[in-house]
Amino acid sequence: MNGAEIIDGKAYAAGLRARVAAAVPAFRVAAGRAPGLAVVLVGEDPASQVYVRSKHKATVEAGMESFEHRLPATASEMELLDLVERLNADDRVDGILVQLPLPSHIDEKRVIATIDPDKDVDGFHVVNAGRLAVGEAGYVPCTPLGCLMLLKDRLGDLSGLAAVVIGRSNIVGKPMAALLLAENCTVTVAHSRTRDLADVVRRADIVVAAVGRPEMVKGDWIRHGATVIDVGINRVPGAEPGKTRLVGDVAFAEAAAVAGAITPVPGGVGPMTIAVLLRNTLVAAHRRAGVALPEGAIG
Ligand code: GUN
Repeated sequence: MNGAEIIDGKAYAAGLRARVAAAVPAFRVAAGRAPGLAVVLVGEDPASQVYVRSKHKATVEAGMESFEHRLPATASEMELLDLVERLNADDRVDGILVQLPLPSHIDEKRVIATIDPDKDVDGFHVVNAGRLAVGEAGYVPCTPLGCLMLLKDRLGDLSGLAAVVIGRSNIVGKPMAALLLAENCTVTVAHSRTRDLADVVRRADIVVAAVGRPEMVKGDWIRHGATVIDVGINRVPGAEPGKTRLVGDVAFAEAAAVAGAITPVPGGVGPMTIAVLLRNTLVAAHRRAGVALPEGAIG
């Protein structure tokens, strides 16, 4: 039996993007300019090119200004740092995103550290990680913030719920744990060294899987009625030779038979990332311009 509600991240993301777009005209009137997002791509990684193109399209569709900067794979670290400094100094730019991964001769940490934390709409700068850890307003990485929005939309108040986050990356696992803790969940962060992972996951009202291992979380690990958020996007061989398909970190059909609600892959967490990026850019624009954000407009 497939008992779980399927959480429609695509629909939620479309709604969030519409709410962001609806708030842009008032900002334009108040600030005399559009919110601006700068995206920097170094090299020709095909997946990154696809992401950057969709970010550009979504930014323009939201009525914001998109500044796209492409550097060749041979660009030096200094050239990239110079570009980031120029974007830091450019008043039309509210948000800066440097697409990762960067070519191996460039130090990612150094690049992220150079971004003005108040323009860091990716939430990757240590200042923003620190703000999240101590509960100050800053910027939270888009994927975990999108997961939290889906959870609150489905469950309302999360207080007292047992949450297990599988994965401890700086981009998803750690910020996800901090967000859930701030919502008064009892949070466990599980990872590759966790003993008896299945038993740990069985105690959870909320499971967030962000490990990057196809269908690792099995149906019999899921507590009856739990809410399952699958952050994984893994390409695996498909049914026909030469074809591939996308699967999450959760064995979907098995888990959907016991969960209360679950995100599908694709169409769950994935579409939230760009929507939250636009949301973070809108927030950055208002803060930087000293314009109040309409209450409740963007969750
Ligand atoms: N590469 C894949 N996802 C992301 C993201 O959310 N931000 C950045 N900067 N790079 C990425």
